[in-house]
Amino acid sequence: MTNTFPESSLSIVGKSVKRLDAPDKVKGTAKYIDDLSFTGMLYGAVVRSPHPHAEILEIKLEKALKVKGVAGIYTAKDIPGKNIIPLIHQDQPLLAEKTVNHIGEGIAVIAGESLLAAKSALEAVKIKYKSLTPTLTIEEAWEKQDILTHWTIANGNVEKIFQDPGKIIIEDTYYTPYQEHAYLETNGMIAVLDGLGGIIVYGSLQCPFYVQNAVAAVLGIPLNKVRIIQVTTGGGFGGKEDSPSLPAAMAALMAWKSGRPVKLIFEREEDMAVMSKRHPARIHYKSAVYPDGRLAAVEVNYCLNGGAYATLSPVVLWRGAVHAAGPYKVPNVKINAYALKTNTIPCGAFRGFGEPQAAFASESQMDRLAEKLCMDPLEFRLKNILRKGEQTITGQKVETSMGFEEVIEKVTARADWRHNQPDNFTRKRGIGIALTYYGVGLGARGKHLNPAGANVVIAPDGSVTIAVGTTELGQGMFTVLAQIASETLNCPIDLIRVIEPDTSRVPDSGPTVASRTTLMSGNAVKNACLEIKAGMEKALSNENINKLQFQEAVAECIKKSVHLAAHGWAVPPGTTFDEVTGQGNTYITYTWSATIAETEVDIETGEVKVIKIVSGHDIGKVINPQMGEGQIEGGVMQGVGYALTEEHIVNNGKILNNQFSTYLIPVAPDTPEIIPVIVENPFHWGPYGAKGLGEAPLIGVAPAITNSIANAIGIRLNEIPATPERIWHKLQEKRKR
Ligand code: MOS
Repeated sequence: MTNTFPESSLSIVGKSVKRLDAPDKVKGTAKYIDDLSFTGMLYGAVVRSPHPHAEILEIKLEKALKVKGVAGIYTAKDIPGKNIIPLIHQDQPLLAEKTVNHIGEGIAVIAGESLLAAKSALEAVKIKYKSLTPTLTIEEAWEKQDILTHWTIANGNVEKIFQDPGKIIIEDTYYTPYQEHAYLETNGMIAVLDGLGGIIVYGSLQCPFYVQNAVAAVLGIPLNKVRIIQVTTGGGFGGKEDSPSLPAAMAALMAWKSGRPVKLIFEREEDMAVMSKRHPARIHYKSAVYPDGRLAAVEVNYCLNGGAYATLSPVVLWRGAVHAAGPYKVPNVKINAYALKTNTIPCGAFRGFGEPQAAFASESQMDRLAEKLCMDPLEFRLKNILRKGEQTITGQKVETSMGFEEVIEKVTARADWRHNQPDNFTRKRGIGIALTYYGVGLGARGKHLNPAGANVVIAPDGSVTIAVGTTELGQGMFTVLAQIASETLNCPIDLIRVIEPDTSRVPDSGPTVASRTTLMSGNAVKNACLEIKAGMEKALSNENINKLQFQEAVAECIKKSVHLAAHGWAVPPGTTFDEVTGQGNTYITYTWSATIAETEVDIETGEVKVIKIVSGHDIGKVINPQMGEGQIEGGVMQGVGYALTEEHIVNNGKILNNQFSTYLIPVAPDTPEIIPVIVENPFHWGPYGAKGLGEAPLIGVAPAITNSIANAIGIRLNEIPATPERIWHKLQEKRKR
């Protein structure tokens, strides 16, 4: 399939139409999971391990079962199917049976007539443990070589380059922290028996088919007896990619055993303490340049703290490894990437998916190399960026939709690169840049999940119903898909409705992740609409059905018994990856990004104020410019938090700051001027040329900010967040010298 479309002919793609879900969200009438209830509904609570690593010797339920209002308590023994959350490694149980491997791991679930009843029984469940020695840090796991996954990408001969004299070499170790998704709505599910031998689970989630797999496995029933319905979801950012399988399967187990509907919603403290986060990382990075400024070699040891179970770590790590050298030509490269197993909470997907950690290290290195070369950091980068037809570190030629230079030009123009730094006595201004890229979609490691489907049905009154397998998380999927359908069918957007995702309506369409939804579901919707439109045109012998007469045209087709429904299926072009060499065409296309940050650093207190961020991306084609800019603004702010304030304080595997009063995300007064820049270099396989945007805006923010801090005060942190304390200590050290 290729898209040929004269730009000027587009009527609604590329327009900032209003979000279809805005009125209900603004008025408060949208129904989130906690707004729903069912007759006879029970409330769930989870008995969780207080130990990072222990043997379970005995579980005593007698006392807890006698607590007033307790309807049932279930442990691993009650699971009718497999005690496994099926994902990549199949290593995570729903409920721990013989050993617990991290603090907060579920051991039993309690269903109560009220939430209070369920919670008051928590303490009455008596569990005898035998403590085992936990592995808690990347360093400890590395020492033991406790490895969940390892990837290698190698090309050329790095050893030779590093041994050769005459190169400029920079080598350091970088550290990045946990990052909390901080979605407005915590994880929540309601499970209800459908009265037909199956079960329906409603919930706040990103990936209905992951949840369906987990519930079917745990209950030991076929997929067609498990129906997952996503209700209005208050944000995910990756945090509701795989982890909702846990609350969903727990609620399903309670409903299956008790025969009653069960609601299970995690409180904020619980959600923040035990659910997945961005992986902490340790990245050892060594780079060499020739004296003329060309990159000669990059060698990276990239370690993620995967936590107790593999969950999505293998693929988070893979994306990080593939992008670890940045969007540059690197003739000699060796990346060794490891996800390490520890007795801490399993980490997983988070906007950027393994790239933000690597980008912090690689873009810090780029600045330090430029400094050693006495080159401007932008000039140095421009000497090394990937240009059309050149090869990534996996040997992939980047030939299509390559607007990188245009992005860099526009972003540097809007930031007035290195021309605007008025200092005063104690507040120093700086400016910093980061260049990044993002492989759109799941790529070669997620091939089997790549296709996506859409069902489009036109009713006799001309109204259109669209069902897809990906989800609306607040990112704007409903609106973008309606725009694509409206454009393709040439029908007014008011006639289009995208309904809530439900696994019983469409084939498995993969997860709502990897900035793939506009591309994949967009193509599926477009394919279905093209088929229906062709049928209408044939029946009416009319190649140009007028938008204003769309309903009349439908009525005419109904009279002629035309089939006004179709299933669209999108299968992306092939990708490859050789596990031995790490070479291959890893992603179908890339989003190219540049971020510039201007900051002001207080040299008395170490405080950083972000003044301005320019964030530019070649996304192929923007379907809805205002929503695209919103994605950029949101991603930038999540990056500002990652750069400056967000981190978890952990003691013996326990997260201590599991509240928004102690885990600090940026708020309105912390918001800098944000200038979004969108560049459109159409991708031939994308719907109307679109690629993906969801994650790209976050990735370069932390290094752009830390590079800007270095530019302001000459202090470089090899660790984020760049808190006032960390900067102040460095300032003191510098003064002593
Ligand atoms: Mo996303 S971090 O690929 O859910």
